[in-house]
Amino acid sequence: MRPEQHAKMAAEMKQRLKVEELEENIDELEDVVEDVFPILILTVFVAVLLLIIFLIRLYLRWFAPNPSKNRMDGKTVLITGGTSGIGKCTAIELAKRNARVLIAGREKAKVEAVARNIRKKTGNQHVNALVLDLGNLRSIQEFAEDFRKDEKYLHVLINNAAYMGPLSKTDDGLERSFGVNYLGHFYLTYLLSDKLKKNAPSRIINVVSDSYKQGELDLDDLAMNKGYSVYSAYTRSKLAQVMFNLECHKRYIGNCVWSFAAHPGPTATDLLRNYPGMWGNALRLVSRIMFKPPEDGCQTLVYLAVADGLREFSGKLFTDCKAVKTNEKVKANKELSSRLWNVSAHLCGFEGDALMPEDEPEATPNAEEAGEATAEEEKKSQ
Ligand SMILES: NC(=O)c1ccc[n+]([C@@H]2O[C@H](COP(=O)([O-])OP(=O)(O)OC[C@H]3O[C@@H](n4cnc5c(N)ncnc54)[C@H](OP(=O)(O)O)[C@@H]3O)[C@@H](O)[C@H]2O)c1
Repeated sequence: MRPEQHAKMAAEMKQRLKVEELEENIDELEDVVEDVFPILILTVFVAVLLLIIFLIRLYLRWFAPNPSKNRMDGKTVLITGGTSGIGKCTAIELAKRNARVLIAGREKAKVEAVARNIRKKTGNQHVNALVLDLGNLRSIQEFAEDFRKDEKYLHVLINNAAYMGPLSKTDDGLERSFGVNYLGHFYLTYLLSDKLKKNAPSRIINVVSDSYKQGELDLDDLAMNKGYSVYSAYTRSKLAQVMFNLECHKRYIGNCVWSFAAHPGPTATDLLRNYPGMWGNALRLVSRIMFKPPEDGCQTLVYLAVADGLREFSGKLFTDCKAVKTNEKVKANKELSSRLWNVSAHLCGFEGDALMPEDEPEATPNAEEAGEATAEEEKKSQ
């Protein structure tokens, strides 16, 4: 073989070896891609999922901070369910603004500990504990009697306490969500309405939930014999509260008592503590991770308690410190709101239009604020 032929063959051999090596590398690469591909897909999937969760969390936790810096010197606020969650944070915020804050809770030791804690935290010594079980009409009556005797003023009543959980009855035999969330507050408000009128302009704040839109109210089936679910009982009670808010507006605005409904938005509290089963565990986990803290959830309540210029918004539903439209279903069903009032009055043992026995006049309405309220509001309430 000639040397040139030899060199040519050697070059060809080298070329072939390179191609084989390249083919081997490509095969190896294909194996690696085959192994890594599912992990890559999984990583992308997890990243997209986390991004979606993050965006939903951002959306759910969004809140509008209360723009009012008003103080509450000389004002008395009564808040139900002030021992935890949104109610407790509202009490703290109002105590910081120097209000006299009365926290009503059903366990004496618990509510006293909370009041003590708030006094220490805010330096406001006018934070007191009162015992009230909204699931017991007798307890509400005794509470109101003592309150009317012992307390000179009431400028803001915040109907905040709530129950959400499995089928259970109040001491008076009513379905518990309806009994505590709505009827207890109905009775309390009625019994304290004379105090509110005497301290006018005063405010009633009914803490509701956007879920009222899913609520169905059948006045002929208050026991929910046709079917009970935790959610349907809760949304029904919130729908009743929204209707109650409209009725309060209609009945009390002539006395310069303004009524507002407040939706705090999804807030990480103990509200779901009684929600049963796996679904309850999942909801509690989601609420801890995704919902806003109660310090943010209480902003609309605080706004409604302290802000100026709310007179013309009486009867409205607020969320994120802004009035929002109430569902057409509620607005169109004024007759149901009025029937609900009468049925509730009957359940509490009085007639729908019964008036409260008048006490001695105790406080003169702030002339300036009351003045802006009178004539126009009386016209509106007709
Ligand atoms: N969290 C949310 O995402 C959310 C969303 C929309 C609306 N809301 C509304 O916000 C309000 C406050 O709820 P939250 O989330 O702060 O719940 P929470 O932490 O469970 O507070 C509920 C309060 O109600 C009290 N309560 C329950 N049953 C009572 C009874 N029979 N008598 C007197 N007090 C009673 C509880 O007192 P105890 O400590 O004695 O049980 C507790 O202080 C409720 O009206 C709720 O419907 C909440």
